[in-house]
Amino acid sequence: MNKDIKSVLIGEAELDRLVQQIALQIDNDYTNNEKKLLLLCILKGSVVFMGELMKKLSRDVEIDFMKVSSYGSGMINSGKVNILLDLYRPDLADVDIIIIEDIVDSGKTLEYLTKYLKLKGANSVKTCTLLDKPSRREVDFTPDYVGQVIPDEFVVGFGLDYNEKYRNLPFIGILNPSVYSK
Ligand code: IMP
Ligand code: MG
Repeated sequence: MNKDIKSVLIGEAELDRLVQQIALQIDNDYTNNEKKLLLLCILKGSVVFMGELMKKLSRDVEIDFMKVSSYGSGMINSGKVNILLDLYRPDLADVDIIIIEDIVDSGKTLEYLTKYLKLKGANSVKTCTLLDKPSRREVDFTPDYVGQVIPDEFVVGFGLDYNEKYRNLPFIGILNPSVYSK
C-alpha cells in the first residue's frame, strides 16, 4: 500500500454497500416526487461518490456541478465559502436538489450552500454526504443522508484529497500524519 496511508478506514466493498444504502433511501424518499430531481455534485472531492451513487438510482435524475473552496491549501479551513463555479438554470422552482458532498467537517460549506440554493429559488434542497465528522462541527448543521460517521482523522481516497493527491485511491484511507507535519 501507499506509504502515505496509515490504514484503510473503509474498503472498496464496504464503500459500495454504503453507496447502495444511500441510493435506496433516496429512491424511497423521492418515489412519488413530481419535480425534477437534481444531484448537485460539489467539485472535486465528490465526483467518485456521485458517479457511483447515480448509477445505483432507479428514478430519473439530472446532474450538475458546483465548485466551492473553503480550504486554503492542505488542511487549513478558512471557514469562508467561495463559489468558484456557480449553478445556472432558469427552472429552479421546478427542481428538488440533493447536494452531493464527500465529507462534512465544520459544516460551513453545506450550511452555506443550502441557504444559497434556497435563496436562488430551488423548490427544495437536501444534503447527502459520504462521510461525516460530527465531532468537528462549528455550526448547527445535520446532513439528510450520511454514508458513514467517522472519527476526527484526515482521510483521503475515493475522491478525497490532500493537496490534490490521493483522489484516485479506491478506498478511504487515513493519511499518515507525517505527510502533513513535514
Ligand atoms: P466544511 O465546510 O468544514 O464542512 O468542509 C468540508 C470540506 O472540507 C470537504 O468538502 C473537504 O473538501 C474538506 N475536508 C474536510 N475533512 C477532510 C478530510 O478528512 N479529508 C479531505 N478533505 C476534507
Ligand atoms: Mg470538498
